[in-house]
Amino acid sequence: QDEIYGAGLRGVVPTLPMTHEGWEAGAQAALPPSVWSYVAGGAGNEHTQRANVAAFEDWGLVPRMFVGAAQRDLSVELFGMRLATPLFMAPVGVIGLCAQDGHGDLATARAAARTGVPMIASTLSVDPLEAVAAQFEGTPGFFQLYTPTDRELARSLVRRAESAGFRAIVVTLDTWVTGWRPRDLATANFPQLRGHCLANYTSDPVFRAQLERAPEQDPVAAVLRWKEVFGKALTWDDLPWLRSLTSLPLIVKGICHPEDARRAKDGGVDGIYCSNHGGRQANGGLPALDALPAVVEAAGDLPVLFDSGIRSGTDAVKALALGAAAVGVGRPYAYGLALGGTEGVTHVLRSILAELDLTMAVDGYPDLAALTPDALRRIR
Ligand code: FNR
Repeated sequence: QDEIYGAGLRGVVPTLPMTHEGWEAGAQAALPPSVWSYVAGGAGNEHTQRANVAAFEDWGLVPRMFVGAAQRDLSVELFGMRLATPLFMAPVGVIGLCAQDGHGDLATARAAARTGVPMIASTLSVDPLEAVAAQFEGTPGFFQLYTPTDRELARSLVRRAESAGFRAIVVTLDTWVTGWRPRDLATANFPQLRGHCLANYTSDPVFRAQLERAPEQDPVAAVLRWKEVFGKALTWDDLPWLRSLTSLPLIVKGICHPEDARRAKDGGVDGIYCSNHGGRQANGGLPALDALPAVVEAAGDLPVLFDSGIRSGTDAVKALALGAAAVGVGRPYAYGLALGGTEGVTHVLRSILAELDLTMAVDGYPDLAALTPDALRRIR
């Protein structure tokens, strides 16, 4: 804020928009229509996607006075790491395509290095995970796994993530099959099937060996084979195996039911990630924010990560007050990337963080421990 107003005194005004609506409109103008549809779209008529965002307006923050919150401490201890802020970048496959040079995973990782905001790197990336991790410069990065049916391939991806220096493994549970997404269906466009964002597979020795055994010519067979590669329909019986894949912190993404949180905890995970995939997977669902309190309660002493619908710093404050240990954004930083590469992602993250910090200042919540459900009132 001081930076922006200071520059204003020298006649310099920001070149990038200051709100999510502005980032969104700018990204729409900047991206090829097929990429825009893929990133902005969701499942069905996108009711859940809209509800995720609207749910934040159902809660109001209660300001407190005489707190003297001149200095705020936004830092958080997560999986044995001290993070400067509770914000992270949710995994976005195809983020690579949002950058003008087509290497958005690297540009995003550079923004992680610049801001200290951790990136959860998706399995589906234009550049291999080793190249992404090489950009982090000390900011911790997490690797998101789409679990392949082939266990050897899954193990290979996790091993590579460990060797590359990723600090946690996030297994996404809600996307072993892709949801009904009319915007993509209307253009018959599913980027991965066109060979985009498969670098982690094509650079993998296990995958390459398989490919040589079964080269695919027929397009429909290719679709079926892709499903085979990308999505194992996991059950609770697979959790011990997943747990055995790594000694890194293991986080399960897509948990919205308290019973699932309890079972995951019993299965030895280190963190629960409450999310409905930004409304991209199933329509007609509960806004993710409404699922959060019960998941937090069921998770007990395990940290709960949250995403889906956060568009601003105040949204982040509300999710933290409802018990999230850390909060993620997906589309906002993807739009930032489309607008201005590393610079654009940095701008979006810093804007969200500045608003988060100022909201805590103005409302008198000096640190994350002060942000409890008591800070909120249900409006609707
Ligand atoms: C995603 N998301 C996602 N999640 C995941 O676990 N692996 C992935 O590869 C992807 N890919 C992906 C692509 C795009 C274009 C989007 C927008 C999202 C879901 C993501 O991690 C996160 O859950 C949502 O984006 C959060 O919702 P918001 O912030 O977009 O509302």
